[in-house]
Amino acid sequence: MTRTLSFINLRRSFTTLLLATAGYHYVEASLNSMMQANGKLYFGNIIDTNTMQGNEDGVLKGEFGMFTPEYSWKWNRIQPEKGKFHFNDSDAVMEWAEANGKQIRGHTLVWHQNIPDWVDAITDKEDLMKVIKDHINKAVGRYKGRVYAWDVVNEVFNEDGTFRDSVFYRVLGEDFIPLAFRTAREADPNAKLYINEYNLDYAGPKIDAMLNLVHRLQAQNVPIDAIGSQTHLTSGRVNEVPAQLKRLASTGLDIAVTELDIRIKRPVTPAKLQQQKGEYALVTKGCLEVPACVGISMWGVSDQNSWVKEALPAFGAPLMWDGNLRRKGAYGAVDGLLRKGGEGSEMAGAKVSVTRRHGGRGRHGKRRLSL
Ligand code: XIL
Repeated sequence: MTRTLSFINLRRSFTTLLLATAGYHYVEASLNSMMQANGKLYFGNIIDTNTMQGNEDGVLKGEFGMFTPEYSWKWNRIQPEKGKFHFNDSDAVMEWAEANGKQIRGHTLVWHQNIPDWVDAITDKEDLMKVIKDHINKAVGRYKGRVYAWDVVNEVFNEDGTFRDSVFYRVLGEDFIPLAFRTAREADPNAKLYINEYNLDYAGPKIDAMLNLVHRLQAQNVPIDAIGSQTHLTSGRVNEVPAQLKRLASTGLDIAVTELDIRIKRPVTPAKLQQQKGEYALVTKGCLEVPACVGISMWGVSDQNSWVKEALPAFGAPLMWDGNLRRKGAYGAVDGLLRKGGEGSEMAGAKVSVTRRHGGRGRHGKRRLSL
């Protein structure tokens, strides 16, 4: 253990040194290693059986340290029929991560989407509680001690801050949330447990509802560790992200940017891509500026393969690599910001002192990720 840690420290010092000299000589450094040099745990992305061997795998392995499975860990894939569990694909993702020195954010346990019809049809309280517990015990238990985090509940709110009308809320009311967290904690005491949500990017009833819910959960001693802000953003509506991340951090929990992309209203023009560059830098800086922010995960590599293409066809070009897998301006902006140590933020100048300040473990107390 000690040897591993000091080896990691050595590698981190080396990265720090590379970054410190980067002003004079351009040095290739991964987004992940640069995030770590800025005191964070990781820069992440999505992975699944389709991209493990696809044309993006070089970028995925080279740039990122934390991975969220895009499909194969969702309820409809793990337990499509009651009591019949399918772990072939999720195991393949876990094994890919371990073979490549990467970590996993499990995604996701209780979500209204991608659940099988048999779950949606449940009307009995006891039955649904048992089903939730069983699903969480099996899924979380299978990867116990092997994942960094789990998105325990996902997207529980409507835009107006009321609870979404999912089977979980209809049958159990708000109680499904403490139940899910308590079950997950028991199934893997080492995983960081997240509540994950979108449109927490600007002031309004939705983020207010999230903050109120977290306070209620904390008052009931519910084992919740962190808030994930998906940050599926629309270009032109990004400026408030840093301020809202600070509000989420005011709960005392960890926070993370969990599914970052910034979609552009079609037609995509050079001017709009230019604006997107600045927006990517702003979000990155927003995380650097908040000590509680553990890291940023993208939701995809190439614009060609983004979920936005099908889900939101009026928009395009949401990611940091174009359709030909070339780095876009957005990549350059994030890379540049991380090299400078988030200039203008409280992390500025951190690049030289980070290794000393944090020792073997970061503020977030978890094992460090490989470079
Ligand atoms: C999306 C995937 O990217 C799609 O391919 C799939 O069809 C649906 O799910 N919020 C989430 C993610 O938490 O799980 C979603 O991922 C995107 C929105």
